[in-house]
Amino acid sequence: MPRDTTEQPNPITKLFVHRRPAMTTQPSPHYRRIQLVFPLALFSVLVLGTARICLDNLKNNQQYLMWRGLSRRSFRVPIKVSEDEIIEDGCNVFEGKWIWDNQSYPLYREESCPFLVKQTTCLRNGRPDSFYQNWRWQPNSCNLPKFNALKFLEMLRDKRLMFVGDSIQRGMFESMVCLVQSAIPDGKKSLTRIAPRKIFAVEEFNATIEYYWAPFIIESISDHATNHTVLKRLVKLDSVAKHSREWEGVDILIFESYVWWMYKPQINATYGSPENIQEYNTTTAYRLALETWANWIESSINPQTQKIFFATMSPTHLWNWEWKPGSDGNCFTETHPIEGSYWGTGSNLEIMGIVKDIMGQLKVNVRLLNITQLSEFRKDGHTSVFGERKGKLLTKEQRSDPKTYADCIHWCLPGVPDSWNEILYAMLLQDYRVHH
Ligand SMILES: *[C@@H]1O[C@H](CO)[C@@H](O)[C@H](O)[C@H]1NC(C)=O
Ligand SMILES: *[C@@H]1O[C@H](CO)[C@@H](O)[C@H](O)[C@H]1NC(C)=O
Ligand SMILES: *[C@@H]1O[C@H](CO)[C@@H](O)[C@H](O)[C@H]1NC(C)=O
Ligand SMILES: *[C@@H]1O[C@H](CO)[C@@H](O)[C@H](O)[C@H]1NC(C)=O
Ligand SMILES: *[C@@H]1O[C@H](CO)[C@@H](O)[C@H](O)[C@H]1NC(C)=O
Ligand SMILES: *[C@@H]1O[C@H](CO)[C@@H](O)[C@H](O)[C@H]1NC(C)=O
Repeated sequence: MPRDTTEQPNPITKLFVHRRPAMTTQPSPHYRRIQLVFPLALFSVLVLGTARICLDNLKNNQQYLMWRGLSRRSFRVPIKVSEDEIIEDGCNVFEGKWIWDNQSYPLYREESCPFLVKQTTCLRNGRPDSFYQNWRWQPNSCNLPKFNALKFLEMLRDKRLMFVGDSIQRGMFESMVCLVQSAIPDGKKSLTRIAPRKIFAVEEFNATIEYYWAPFIIESISDHATNHTVLKRLVKLDSVAKHSREWEGVDILIFESYVWWMYKPQINATYGSPENIQEYNTTTAYRLALETWANWIESSINPQTQKIFFATMSPTHLWNWEWKPGSDGNCFTETHPIEGSYWGTGSNLEIMGIVKDIMGQLKVNVRLLNITQLSEFRKDGHTSVFGERKGKLLTKEQRSDPKTYADCIHWCLPGVPDSWNEILYAMLLQDYRVHH
């Protein structure tokens, strides 16, 4: 199995941990805002002849898709959206609540997905509770379709799907790989690393699910997949070509970038001359960066053949006084979602406004994965002290010091990013609805 040796620490955790403002001193408002599986055996014996015999007995669409997919790759199976998979127009899937559902969730298990990196396998890393795996996102005015790996792969036939962004986005990529991988027999799936890309390939479907490291989306000195600077940041606000070359022609692109911007209220950046380094307000820099990205989208995307998504900021839970007034910790020991309305100060509203502006101005349809609010509730979903730091699991000593070491930015898997992918799946599936 592919091992992940290049995974670096996640730098960001450390940065944020030290930025918790003391409760007694009044942080500047700006500063506050800145805070930031058909058994597998069946597949291997499924040869065309036996599959054909089976077929007569199969009513289940999933099994049918599976047969078609695995036996005759060139055969396309029409993707049908059944009644209970339709999301009525007007339903905002991002508005809803988390429902305890230990019958259907998790959608896969840590030990059944060999592609998970150590950073996300919280149970294996010693997390005592697994409640965080049992929550289902329930939109207020509709239901999400059940994730069907073979249907998804059928939608991806002869296509490439790519997640672009930082380590949060890598979590979403891994989640998606885990959601689909169990439907593919061993030997017919592979994960390769061609930095800054990771490529999960599904042979029978001639499909790939990819990840591309670009923590600022645009170019920066942190673009090396493993050897990137953490404390020193320099972004090239007008440059995206080095990355976008690798995005050309990708059928489904999902972008995300936030937390790397949120280190300080200012960021060193260039615009135009590479020698002219200036400090920009983070929000100003973010807007310029998204404009550069938007220009590339407008000039390079073919809306007839390509689908673009943009994921809003993934919330952090660094200061528990925000949901438990008077306390002085972070997400450590949290085992349940927040009930009732909640928006953390780490999710910068000005940045959210910039995302809204830029998306609103685009002529190319970029669909928003507005996962911020739904994830805000999930103070229980982070890796906390059951993840990695500098590429290594935390030591016993470090674990006993959650105030310094808890990672309240990244998410355990299975977990919250699975719900993001269920929503992405739901949105992609709606594209196959027959309109009368
Ligand atoms: C599922 O949750 C219910 C309600 O909390 C609990 O009574 C039951 O034991 C749980 N089942 C499993 C398999 O964990
Ligand atoms: C595989 O998919 C790519 C697009 O990702 C396409 O260009 C190519 O023609 C496909 N190959 C076959 C044999 O269909
Ligand atoms: C990492 O990058 C720095 C600066 O670009 C370079 O000096 C160093 O040799 C690199 N280290 C490795 C292991 O590639
Ligand atoms: C910008 O770079 C200069 C020189 O390296 C450094 O002193 C300054 O702190 C940096 N500014 C920010 C906001 O990081
Ligand atoms: C940068 O932010 C500061 C403080 O919020 C503000 O006073 C200043 O006008 C901003 N500068 C620019 C160029 O937007
Ligand atoms: C995302 O949803 C929140 C409410 O949950 C809303 O305030 C925000 O404006 C939305 N973001 C965008 C970019 O539309």
